[in-house]
Amino acid sequence: MRSLINILDLSPAELDGLIAIANDIIANPAKYSESCRGKKLATLFFEPSTRTRLSFEAAMYELGGNVLTVAGADSSSAAKGESIADTAKTVSCYADIIAMRHPKEGAPLVASMNASIPVINAGDGGHNHPTQTLADLLTIQREKGRLSDMTIGLCGDLKFGRTVHSLIEAMARYQGIRFVLISPEELKLPSYVKQGVLKDQGISYEQTTDLEAAMPGLDILYMTRVQRERFFNEEDYLRLKDSYILTPEKLKNAKADLAIMHPLPRVNEISVAIDDDPRACYFKQVLNGKYMRMALILRLLEVL
Ligand code: NCD
Repeated sequence: MRSLINILDLSPAELDGLIAIANDIIANPAKYSESCRGKKLATLFFEPSTRTRLSFEAAMYELGGNVLTVAGADSSSAAKGESIADTAKTVSCYADIIAMRHPKEGAPLVASMNASIPVINAGDGGHNHPTQTLADLLTIQREKGRLSDMTIGLCGDLKFGRTVHSLIEAMARYQGIRFVLISPEELKLPSYVKQGVLKDQGISYEQTTDLEAAMPGLDILYMTRVQRERFFNEEDYLRLKDSYILTPEKLKNAKADLAIMHPLPRVNEISVAIDDDPRACYFKQVLNGKYMRMALILRLLEVL
């Protein structure tokens, strides 16, 4: 039995396999419509979510399976003080697989060590978000036709943005990847990613505060929201929240085949005027996330 806690739990070959399954689901959805008949996914979300929870649930329904859900932290026994370990043991009695989001870094890992069924990390604090990375990888593969040889600009809250941490870990394994890290001084990439991934592996990167100067060199621009819920004081959040707002004007010097990505939700980071630009990929990421979660469930349940 395996869980997905960190994106590196999957080898590059396993990632390729998931992308291949997702592409096959897109081409032949009917083939998979009964694959998880009789299986149950439990979604345990102790933090807000729209896309991640609904895409997991839609994924399970489209595989013919069922879903058990806890409506929120306040309505589960976590509110009575139950430990993550006990919750995981309990849910293992009812479901076949768990998707868990939690504000504490490491909570899904603790759950996976105590559950007797696979656990998927659906976001743990400011740490990791491996299934968003699955959505991002399928999007990059489908938009660019490759996962290697490109310059990826990551812009916004690189400190608390968990999707950025997982994406860097995943993309650093491919050839010819260069990162441009665009953030305010206060929201720079944490050293466990900068040192532990980029420097230790000799990956080419550059740090800047200037989005427009970086724009012409980018193949991918990955915008992120400033993570209000991780700030210690509201004043700092208010000062930093609108550090980067992508407008059509700022895309003037961008490549014609730039892919503009965002894990969503967007607050102000991308002007709605860009939504109709053919380079905007963020709603494609939403849809691709469902297909990759279908592929992941199939593999973790050993249906495929
Ligand atoms: C992201 C998250 O939860 O980390 N959302 C998502 O799952 N698509 C990004 C964010 O909240 O900013």
